[in-house]
Amino acid sequence: MQLDPDNHKNTNRQETEKRTSPLQYGNQEKKNVYIETYGCQMNFADSEIFGSILLKEGYTMVNEVGLSDYVLINTCAIRDNAEQRIRKRLRELRAVQRQRPWMRVGILGCMAERLKTQLLEEEENVSFVVGPDAYRKLPNIMSRVRGGDKVAATELSNDETYDDIEPVRLNGNGISAYISIMRGCQNYCAYCVVPYTRGLERSRNPQTIVDEARYLFNEGYKEITLLGQNVNSYRWEQNGTKVGFPELMAMVAEISPSMRVRFATSHPKDLSDDLLHTMARYDNICKSIHLPVQSGSERMLKLMNRKYTPQWYLNRIEAIRTILPTCSISTDVIAGFCTETEEDHQATLEMFRTVRYDSAFMFKFSMRPNTFAARHMEDDIPEEVKIRRLEEIIALQNQLSLENNQKCIGQTFEVLVEGASHRSKEQLFGRTSQNKVIVFDRGNHQPGEYLMLKVTECTSATLKGVVVD
Ligand code: SAH
Ligand code: SF4
Ligand code: F3S
Repeated sequence: MQLDPDNHKNTNRQETEKRTSPLQYGNQEKKNVYIETYGCQMNFADSEIFGSILLKEGYTMVNEVGLSDYVLINTCAIRDNAEQRIRKRLRELRAVQRQRPWMRVGILGCMAERLKTQLLEEEENVSFVVGPDAYRKLPNIMSRVRGGDKVAATELSNDETYDDIEPVRLNGNGISAYISIMRGCQNYCAYCVVPYTRGLERSRNPQTIVDEARYLFNEGYKEITLLGQNVNSYRWEQNGTKVGFPELMAMVAEISPSMRVRFATSHPKDLSDDLLHTMARYDNICKSIHLPVQSGSERMLKLMNRKYTPQWYLNRIEAIRTILPTCSISTDVIAGFCTETEEDHQATLEMFRTVRYDSAFMFKFSMRPNTFAARHMEDDIPEEVKIRRLEEIIALQNQLSLENNQKCIGQTFEVLVEGASHRSKEQLFGRTSQNKVIVFDRGNHQPGEYLMLKVTECTSATLKGVVVD
């Protein structure tokens, strides 16, 4: 469900024909912007928000660094390696800047928020840093840095939701889109930097969410993913009317039965039966839940400040299995958090064997400065132990993914076709409601179609199928 938060994808789409010739360009104000996005889905949604802000101000999106006057890097700070990647990217950009000395580089997103002006001091080729709640200031900042100024805008807000901004769909497939429904997080899990980089939790006006979803549907989109760090705590109250996450899901699902609705991420402590029943009522709400467990050990969960026990978590899994028998379940897990013993690690493996996840994002613990863990705990698990534990979890999950996929062989699923398979242009791929990818021969089919596919073979990552009439 969730993108690998360390993944990077260029989110630009250039209308090449709109670019002016070099001569004209020489006479124009330089306003070509190249956006690069790293991190989670929320960052991808944010790039579409500030992309939209910039387009309104007359900026143009280009799809090559070599054509740009501004490079905006939307960054992630979740683990140290996410930040190291950005530092490496900045070194690479220096060579381009030598060719285009007027080009300005800005760091946006979570790493900007975490490091603030320190980034301007440490990385001399960066001209501006802008945190996730300050994107409205971008046009102003970008005109200020032209003359060589350095600018930082990193104040967080208690109410910014960008709900009046219609995001520009960057690099989209025209079929599925993200809608940010809330921002921030105040769960303060001991290991996590997000509450510090994204600020306090705030929900967005439901009417603007429904309007955006309806607009996308009218534009031909077939799938919407509602995004927040903890969507279950979505809450809106105005003039005595209360809207919680189940109500919001229902409002979006009712736009059309032919538009799928997904959501990410759910915090186990807040996953209510009410939401599960709402999911059961609507065929177009996808039967797939991402429920990050982080650890299977009660002691670790407590130290992590996750606010649930393994028993509570398993009770929620039971509720999903009972109310939504066809639902897939995926998770996030951290290996080697402070003081983790072999016994704790075994409890995590046991959790995986019990739940039998369909897929998982698996990480080794990375101590983040200023988090509760950094202030009060010691990063005491040796690197080789973290790596070994992580590898054990990955090996187990690969086996579980394979076994779960094997169970699909012979079954028929409705898929929404998303595009050409990465391996071959002769093949397309689509997703089931359970968020599983099925690859099949193209025939006369097109992205955006709903098709019934029968699964014929599988690996631990992908299913292969044939179209059934
Ligand atoms: N809001 C989501 C998680 C967002 S971050 C939730 O609470 O479930 C995505 C994942 O990154 C987390 O679920 C966690 O597994 C991982 N993560 C967060 N901080 C980390 C750290 N310091 N080291 C390693 N992994 C971390
Ligand atoms: Fe981080 Fe916890 Fe918030 Fe998720 S719920 S973003 S892990 S603090
Ligand atoms: Fe990374 Fe920020 Fe998302 S730290 S995971 S980009 S909220």
